[in-house]
Amino acid sequence: MVVVPAAVQERADALRELLHRYAHSYYVLDAPQVPDAEYDKLFQELQQLEEQYPALLTTDSPTQRVGGKLLEGFGKVRHKVPMLSIRTETDIEASGARNFDARVRRELALKEGDPPVEYVAELKFDGLALNLRYENGALVQAATRGDGEVGEDVTQNIRTVGQIPLRLAGRDIPAVLEVRGEVYMRRDDFERLNELQREKIARGAKNEKTFVNPRNAAAGAVRQLDPAIARQRPLSFYAYGWGEIEGGPAFQTHREVLQALKAWGVPVSERVTVATGPEDLIAYHDAVGRERDQLPFDIDGVVYKVNSLALQKQLGFVTREPRWAVAHKFPAQEQLTTVESIDVYVGRTGKLTPVARLQPVFVGGVTVTNATLHNEDEARRKDVRVGDTVIVRRAGDVIPEVVAVVPEKRQADAKVFTMPRTCPVCGSEAVREEGEADYRCTGGLFCSAQRKHAILHFAQRRAMDIEGLGEKLVDQMVDAGVIRTLPDLYRMGLANLVALERMGEKSAQNVLAALEKSKSASLPRFLYGLGIRHVGESTARDLVRHFGKLDGIMDASVEQLLQVPDVGPIVAESVHAFFQQVHNREVVEQLRACGVHWEEGEPVAQVPKPLAGKTVVLTGTLPNLSRDEAKDMLEAAGAKVAGSVSKKTDYLVAGAEAGSKLDKARELGVAVLDEAGLQRLLAGETPPGISP
Ligand code: IVH
Repeated sequence: MVVVPAAVQERADALRELLHRYAHSYYVLDAPQVPDAEYDKLFQELQQLEEQYPALLTTDSPTQRVGGKLLEGFGKVRHKVPMLSIRTETDIEASGARNFDARVRRELALKEGDPPVEYVAELKFDGLALNLRYENGALVQAATRGDGEVGEDVTQNIRTVGQIPLRLAGRDIPAVLEVRGEVYMRRDDFERLNELQREKIARGAKNEKTFVNPRNAAAGAVRQLDPAIARQRPLSFYAYGWGEIEGGPAFQTHREVLQALKAWGVPVSERVTVATGPEDLIAYHDAVGRERDQLPFDIDGVVYKVNSLALQKQLGFVTREPRWAVAHKFPAQEQLTTVESIDVYVGRTGKLTPVARLQPVFVGGVTVTNATLHNEDEARRKDVRVGDTVIVRRAGDVIPEVVAVVPEKRQADAKVFTMPRTCPVCGSEAVREEGEADYRCTGGLFCSAQRKHAILHFAQRRAMDIEGLGEKLVDQMVDAGVIRTLPDLYRMGLANLVALERMGEKSAQNVLAALEKSKSASLPRFLYGLGIRHVGESTARDLVRHFGKLDGIMDASVEQLLQVPDVGPIVAESVHAFFQQVHNREVVEQLRACGVHWEEGEPVAQVPKPLAGKTVVLTGTLPNLSRDEAKDMLEAAGAKVAGSVSKKTDYLVAGAEAGSKLDKARELGVAVLDEAGLQRLLAGETPPGISP
């Protein structure tokens, strides 16, 4: 027998201790302490030690268990067919699919000239595995995986998930059917839930917390002991397999089963595909990898399965993993890194935002060096300190975020972060107004950070469109004192520009030409470019349409401003306050004196908007329009674009991978449109299938 060196024994003990603790926080408390990737790394290290020194192995080692522990409080369910795990292909390159195919062919004793194996490729949903038991078509039980043999009875909670049918529909339904799949939370539902949680915490609610990621929020909802709370948590479901089946059709392939499940009303992802040989699998892996950020939910990879059920049977299992399936992971969306400093960023409106500067880390496919801490309350809630080891998450198009600190890695002398009471750029007082989350620098255009932002905002494409006036140049011009206010832009001459570092005569000429060109402006662009708080492009257009001339807007009272459609008290106050300030009026006058001009019109009676008074909700991915474009178009037509479907919703515009909102709309009888329908609606027509 190989003697286990003391150091190895010690390391194995330490790893087990750590893994037990992490697994407990993950599975039992639904509050993970480290990212999955970190857990996997430690797990694999232990596995390797145990393989090398079998004498190390203990029956209670974390490596000997498939899933989690059970929470007290739920009934136990012994699975009729164990719920297994799948092997993970750690090689994230294309060879992952080739290795799997090679293994399958070897096990099946296929020769080189034999035809390729047919596979099914699926998304690997990042949620919680469920077993749904239907007897004679009725849902009788829902259980978590637990340790793979015994799970928790979560039937009451799962009955509240709208996407999971309580009764199967259609023909040939088996007498007993166990559907296996993943319950998960969509990213938008997750963001909204956390927003609600933050509000509750802000109002002083005890025992409330925000969730680290959608999977965690889903797990917390499913394993919530109070079904009333579980019901408020928006969950979704996709089926990917089955357990016990008695009766029903005789299936030959995995794909056929999924199709039957779908026909019986169980959600199956549109992205399931049949692949022939490893090259198809690689193509699928790459395509899904590219789409990953745009999907409405988190996935952590793809899954390949042998399609033929006969071949699956022939391949069988090794310990607790089938030989006919493999998970091919994508780069993790959560990683550990350390906080090098916490800086405070000053925005255009003087808003101060704490930003964690991070040791660069590769997460979700990009290198992340900064993560916003949003505001004082958020920073305090997360208690991020310089030197801390933190979990950083980047998923979808959401900006990278510090989700949590790893408390045990904190240095004893780490100092609590506090928001500065003065602006870090200009030293003016920073104040936090009653009821506001943010501190603001009170320096206004005295603050060079705000001045730089104001100039960049004025110069941007959607405002005065001054080509070549980018961040670097504006920094230089403001720092060198060439520009203090917007009119200075038109007053600085060639000499001032050429004097700037790295500025040749040719580039300087180009900048001057762009400035000259920008003088022929349009009033809405000019008004938007002034950077009045709460005045976006569409408000600027509305104001111009209503008043016709700039003077009318500048001299309008709050009451007069409130006459403008879509202008409420906050916007009206803001516009009024802006033009009450003498220096702002001076800026406008000076810009005019520099030659900035536009055509003025007469006040226009508002053209009727075809969707005025209508509420529309967008969901899923549309084929041509981005979410923002669709929203802009709807708002321009007078519609209100809401985030969730309710009885007040007039239309739901649904694209690919539409989820719970679509179900809700159907449930409430809300009209559902695709992109073509949306276009007709915008054109003032009645889309087909909808009574006017
Ligand atoms: S198949 C016997 N397919 O990943 C094979 N699993 O260890 C059983 N998962 O927690 C799993 N998406 O809940 C399969 N398309 C998919 C999946 C999937 C997510 C989860 C599953 C389990 C883990 C596999």
